[in-house]
Amino acid sequence: MNNFVFQNPTKIYFGKNQLSHLKEEIKQFGNNVLLVYGSGSIKRIGLYDKVMSVLKEAGVNVSELSGVEPNPRHTTVNRGADICKKEHIDVLLAVGGGSTIDCTKAIAAAAFYDGDCWDLVKRKAPVTKALPILTVLTLAATGSEMDCGGVISNMDTHEKLGLVHPLLFPKVSFLDPENTFSVNAFQTACGSADILSHVFDCNYFTADDRMDMACRIQEEVIRTVVRYAPIAMKEPENYEARANLMWASTWALNGFLDNGISQAAVCHMMEHELSAFYDITHGLGLAILTPRWMEYILDEGTAPQLKRFGTRIFGVDESLSDMEGAKEAINRLSKFLYQDLNLQSRLSDLGIDDGHFAEMAQKACNGGIMKSIKDLTPNDVEAIFRMCL
Ligand code: NZQ
Ligand code: ZN
Repeated sequence: MNNFVFQNPTKIYFGKNQLSHLKEEIKQFGNNVLLVYGSGSIKRIGLYDKVMSVLKEAGVNVSELSGVEPNPRHTTVNRGADICKKEHIDVLLAVGGGSTIDCTKAIAAAAFYDGDCWDLVKRKAPVTKALPILTVLTLAATGSEMDCGGVISNMDTHEKLGLVHPLLFPKVSFLDPENTFSVNAFQTACGSADILSHVFDCNYFTADDRMDMACRIQEEVIRTVVRYAPIAMKEPENYEARANLMWASTWALNGFLDNGISQAAVCHMMEHELSAFYDITHGLGLAILTPRWMEYILDEGTAPQLKRFGTRIFGVDESLSDMEGAKEAINRLSKFLYQDLNLQSRLSDLGIDDGHFAEMAQKACNGGIMKSIKDLTPNDVEAIFRMCL
């Protein structure tokens, strides 16, 4: 079992009507606030007005950056950093899903850098300082509300890369499940697939020795998604379902369940290439990739873990052999993703062909090998992409 350090400084306000605390929380960081949001869903659900009214009560000055894209662009980060410099911004407030929060994290670091934020993402320049970040989450998916990473896209170079630094943990995040009532069935399904993949990639499936307690909690997170995602899709205003998904999203990626294992988040690395080349929705890409990855890595060595997943989550028959149990687990996961969550199952459904697969596979492996429960070379990754067509 690995040694590890766990520290997560983000303060969470969970539940209804907690937004009033934004007043005292934001004031401790200064008077000049940059409010960051996406294409307008927060206006449609009345959240923008609520946030503005609390900010007014707090007596702070508000600048705005709107139009953050799903798969946020480095150019938008640069725009945000320019506003921070011009307006002497003290604190950032992200109101939205993972894309808005990720963009805000990159702005927080870029505000102290004289140059293109892409240098920070590419690690050509170090993150030295960051503005404090507060978030109001509106979509259960990424875990960005309680982690220190953001994922930024450069569409000119077809790159989608993580910017990770301890300074980028949000100081405070507001998690009100009611703010996710308006998330449509497709985004609810994609967010749910993303949560599952965070557990799988970090590090439920692993060649390393891991702690049974962490593994069982990971299974509880998976079971929570399997149970509540279909309910939230059918009954978007079901508070219990939305609350369970929201807290599952946060705990899947806040470091608590990592087991100190350092391995590649393989499906994420592959998906980021799909998004970088084709600008697809992150959770959908993961849903298409994950069962194919499982099929590809299935052998005598990996079968016991895949079977355990099947028996613990989907009630697959314990008396099956490891190999049969593992195959049944993959079938059940596919059924969940493609039937219960109604997600598309093939890249060709999204108009994607194999034209860039070789290049994408090289980039996913960053010129080497991805270490995981079963290591993957670029040839392996290319084969998995082809299985998804
Ligand atoms: O543009 P807006 O108005 O925000 O609308 C969004 C967007 O169209 C909409 N939406 C969000 N909340 C809503 C809502 N619509 C109605 N009602 C609401 N309450 O949903 C669409 C998708 O939003 P987005 O923020 O893109 O979704 P998500 O939270 O899934 O974030 C995806 C991004 O996060 C990255 C992904 O790669 C992707 O770029 N990730 C970030 C991670 C992290 N920071 O740790 C880890 C993840 O693995 C992931 O890579
Ligand atoms: Zn993800």
